[in-house]
Amino acid sequence: MRGIILSGGSATRLRPCTKVTSKQLLPVYNRPMIYYPLNTLIKAGIKEILIIVSPERAGDYLNLLGSGREFGVQFTYEVQDKPRGLADAFIMGENFIDNENVTMILGDNIFEDDFSEAINSFKSGGMVFVKKVHDPERFGVVKFDDNKKAIEIKEKPQEWISDYASTGLYIFDNRCVEIAKSLESSERGELEIVDIQRFYLEKGELEVAMVENEWIDAGTFDSLLEAQNLAKDKLQDKLVI
Ligand code: G1P
Repeated sequence: MRGIILSGGSATRLRPCTKVTSKQLLPVYNRPMIYYPLNTLIKAGIKEILIIVSPERAGDYLNLLGSGREFGVQFTYEVQDKPRGLADAFIMGENFIDNENVTMILGDNIFEDDFSEAINSFKSGGMVFVKKVHDPERFGVVKFDDNKKAIEIKEKPQEWISDYASTGLYIFDNRCVEIAKSLESSERGELEIVDIQRFYLEKGELEVAMVENEWIDAGTFDSLLEAQNLAKDKLQDKLVI
């Protein structure tokens, strides 16, 4: 299993803090934000991790994280010239992923759960981790039928389809690279991760798992504050880095 952390983007919602640094390097209590998603991957035993960064901030990531030896893993870096959507990570990561399966986590997603079992027992297909939210229009949303089977997945639906948001943690088998390459940009000009998920869904190969404990997408000032409190109150003794 290979790991990818997507840490590009310009984070305009966190200006002025992100004028001089990257969102994922902002402090979340006593660590830079990226330590938390890194922790999710490293705790699950993933040893080879690709970190995708923006050109302006690439040096900061190298200074902070280095080779990975300090954490017992190996980091590879790719510079993303322009944010082209989450699915672009699998195109950029093609050589890195090689013939392996891949777990991707977004650099601003902070989880309380330990996903080691799901990651280690993954064989094939796709896996999405969902959580009930009060503001589904902010996320990729998964709709279920009466038997709790996923039947639809949509990015930021303007009309309500479900309260279950797809969190920023994804496991895919090696096909995700070719699927990503075949995608066309959406109306907002991005290669959408939900289009990859939909491919697996339509084949009956998308597994949907519930996130049991807290999950925060720390992309706004309010959610960043929530993340700080979560990190202080509940995460300290769960961190391995
Ligand atoms: C992205 C994905 C979305 C997902 C969310 C989780 O949204 O496109 O499907 O629900 O991450 O954090 P973004 O943060 O780019 O708005």
